[in-house]
Amino acid sequence: MDASGRRTVWDTSEVADDFVLWDDTIGWQWGYPFVFEQLRLVRPDVRVLVDVGCGPGKVAHRAAEDHDLRVHAVDISPRMLALATARYGQPRITFHQAAGWDLPFLDDASVDAAMSCFVLVCVPRREQAQAIAAEAYRVLRPGGRFAVLNAHPGHTGVTFDSFQIGRPGAAYRAGDPIPVRLRRTDGAWVDIVDTYWPAETYHEMLSDVGFAHVWQSVPLLADARRRHGPEAGALERWATERKAPPFLLTVGEK
Ligand SMILES: C[S@@+](CC[C@H](N)C(=O)[O-])C[C@H]1O[C@@H](n2cnc3c(N)ncnc32)[C@H](O)[C@@H]1O
Repeated sequence: MDASGRRTVWDTSEVADDFVLWDDTIGWQWGYPFVFEQLRLVRPDVRVLVDVGCGPGKVAHRAAEDHDLRVHAVDISPRMLALATARYGQPRITFHQAAGWDLPFLDDASVDAAMSCFVLVCVPRREQAQAIAAEAYRVLRPGGRFAVLNAHPGHTGVTFDSFQIGRPGAAYRAGDPIPVRLRRTDGAWVDIVDTYWPAETYHEMLSDVGFAHVWQSVPLLADARRRHGPEAGALERWATERKAPPFLLTVGEK
């Protein structure tokens, strides 16, 4: 963690270049597939997806590769978008540079599904995080879903396979800076500072901007096995995750 406890500034080249070195296996095992599932990307009436805070584009890319979709991938970081374009540029993904919280390049009710994975923890104030949810609500068509994936806020201080949010024994309140450790694929750990939001705050943010139905789910071992087959979660690597699920998914339906 930055010795001063300052939150990580995401729109720098330094952070983007480091981000692509972080081990994301846990995300693919316990997180992103359940976002796709909750957004019902396999359905024929889900044709346009927006990924708010797409980073270097891997999740938008997978969504477009595995489903019959057009994807709008949005980020505030020019370097993240440059990496995304170089790695995953393809006709069905349109990349957009965001200037703040708004999505002016998308009309009202113009998308079928929206997602923000590990993004609301990158903004320091609740009104900013809620503004992202408000824009997702605006651009979604009635019946469309917005899925928000984050580290499970109830599991601070737990060392997962490749990350830890918060320190053991420490208590965090909504909006507090929280130290986060992430493991790179080379085994080195990197320290950043995010913002802590409790589960109820994610729920409130989506309810407050108008989502008619809001629910939360925590992908468990049984879900991982259903998605990935009987061997999922059986490895020693996931011993902690089997006891303390690493991610919380908050979903709003318009
Ligand atoms: C932790 S990364 C996650 C990237 C990607 N969603 C993933 O799961 O790999 C968070 C991303 O959100 C972006 N971000 C932060 N605030 C944003 C905002 N207001 N609008 C769009 N992107 C934002 C950051 O630049 C960064 O690329």
